[in-house]
Amino acid sequence: MASVLTVLAMLAVLSGGLCEEKAFLQRAGVAFNNRQYRSLLTVNNGEVFGTWTWPEMCPDKFLAVGFSIRVESKQYGGDDTALNGIRLICAKDGNRSFLYSVESHTGYFGYWSQPQYCPSGVLTAFQIRVEPHKGLFGDDTAVNNIKFRCSSNPTLEGPGMDWGEYGHWSQECQDGGICGIETKMEEYQYGLDDSTLNDVRFHCCSRSQQ
Ligand SMILES: *[C@@H]1O[C@H](CO)[C@@H](O)[C@H](O)[C@H]1NC(C)=O
Repeated sequence: MASVLTVLAMLAVLSGGLCEEKAFLQRAGVAFNNRQYRSLLTVNNGEVFGTWTWPEMCPDKFLAVGFSIRVESKQYGGDDTALNGIRLICAKDGNRSFLYSVESHTGYFGYWSQPQYCPSGVLTAFQIRVEPHKGLFGDDTAVNNIKFRCSSNPTLEGPGMDWGEYGHWSQECQDGGICGIETKMEEYQYGLDDSTLNDVRFHCCSRSQQ
């Protein structure tokens, strides 16, 4: 009996590991944009360049459990843009083997980081690190990094850049979590100073909501 249990436990560990690697992850894009949401989380330290692009929402009943960011490393004399994109990873009822991602409009520079996940629970609030506008001849990067708070309470910080300062936390999603994203992007400047992502806002959906 004991050995059977041991084998079962080993199988569970093995299959758990395999599922982790083979997790289904698909971009939702704009397919679920008509999802109802309860509130919009914003911060007041975003930068001024560019325009709000388009929202992307996790599928019905899915909430964000993790994220990844696209960051351009330091360009040493070249034009720095720092944070270019934020991708939310959404799960349904905490099932992390079946995931969707949403990201709104992202910039074209840098690489996507390894996803970071809440130990349990969902993303509920955020904070951004922003470099203030550097004036006419400066090299603007705008948003450099992001932190999220999980409903299970830890905070997660992206592997972004260090310019600028963190501002205040957004409000928290009540009774649920983050379920959508919209970015404010400066369009490509064709050889002039690019700052790419300037601000971001997130939608909150309730746990029970369709
Ligand atoms: C996770 O979702 C997939 C797809 O719906 C399902 O096949 C799988 O059984 C679920 N896993 C758990 C642990 O609920």
